[in-house]
Amino acid sequence: MSIQKTLQGRSLLTWLDYTPDEIRYVLDLSRQVKREKNAVHERFKGKTLALLFEKRSTRTRCAFETAFGEEGGHPVFLSTADIQLGAKESIEDTARVLGRMFSAIQFRGFKQSTVETLAAYSGVPVYNGLTDAFHPTQALADIFTIEETFGGRGGITLCFVGDGRNNVARSLLVISAKLGVNVSIISPKALFPDPALLAQCEAAARHSGAKITVSDDLDGVAGADALYTDVWVSMGEEAQRAERLALLRPYQVNRTLMDKTGKKDTIFLHCLPAVKGEEVTADVIDGQQSRAWDQAENRKHTIKAIMLATLAV
Ligand code: CP
Ligand code: NVA
Repeated sequence: MSIQKTLQGRSLLTWLDYTPDEIRYVLDLSRQVKREKNAVHERFKGKTLALLFEKRSTRTRCAFETAFGEEGGHPVFLSTADIQLGAKESIEDTARVLGRMFSAIQFRGFKQSTVETLAAYSGVPVYNGLTDAFHPTQALADIFTIEETFGGRGGITLCFVGDGRNNVARSLLVISAKLGVNVSIISPKALFPDPALLAQCEAAARHSGAKITVSDDLDGVAGADALYTDVWVSMGEEAQRAERLALLRPYQVNRTLMDKTGKKDTIFLHCLPAVKGEEVTADVIDGQQSRAWDQAENRKHTIKAIMLATLAV
């Protein structure tokens, strides 16, 4: 079966169930979408998209809503203040009903099991717009931004510094392992990634040739082509703020750490929103080596490509 066919009707929950060729196809399509960003198309005409949000969002909501709407589709934003989502109605029943009315569903929220249930019961493609466990659409934009910067150069090393067990670090591990991008997680031992996920990524890396390393030693940034960080306190974990700050303070991405890579062309990446002065200093995120703003724009192109690939047009 062709890749176009295997992608049609698919949900995107983690990337774990996608082949490297399928991810590569969506990346290539993203490049085409970005090149043609000013062209007028109506590729989602007559389609509807439910945008379910338990947690706040700027980029993900705006990317889905504008990417879908400007192609003639009808996005409908629904927060937990608007609908029953596991409150007075089960997730299964909500999924069944939404599947009768919408062409696709995007979910951002807490539990990975919620997005999995929506996918299992709705009968339409479901996109994970961030859960506690994964942020797959973000990871696609991140790899897209790296490739946009370094072209087809092989042997790229992406180094994530910070909370190594969070959703962004986990999704970077998965997509990098699949695509053969070397990935290094540098975080305090208490925040190392989940060993079960690491084992899955190492299995994928054996096929792709990616090198995965996990360490608490900041000297490990040496040689990194991209240095990536994320907030120290993810949404829903506010109660652990003091403990996180104490653990992560030495792991701030600042000028000294950027210089430690030993490379002048290392780029800085951040999924945003950023807390300047905590995980990154303002001079780094607002400086010459930062690609954080391209990365934010690329959310839209890559999300449009995911929807084009999976929603038959
Ligand atoms: N990076 C990201 O997901 O941003 P939002 O939380 O604003 O959607
Ligand atoms: N790890 C962050 C990512 C925000 C896009 C969070 O979950 O809050």
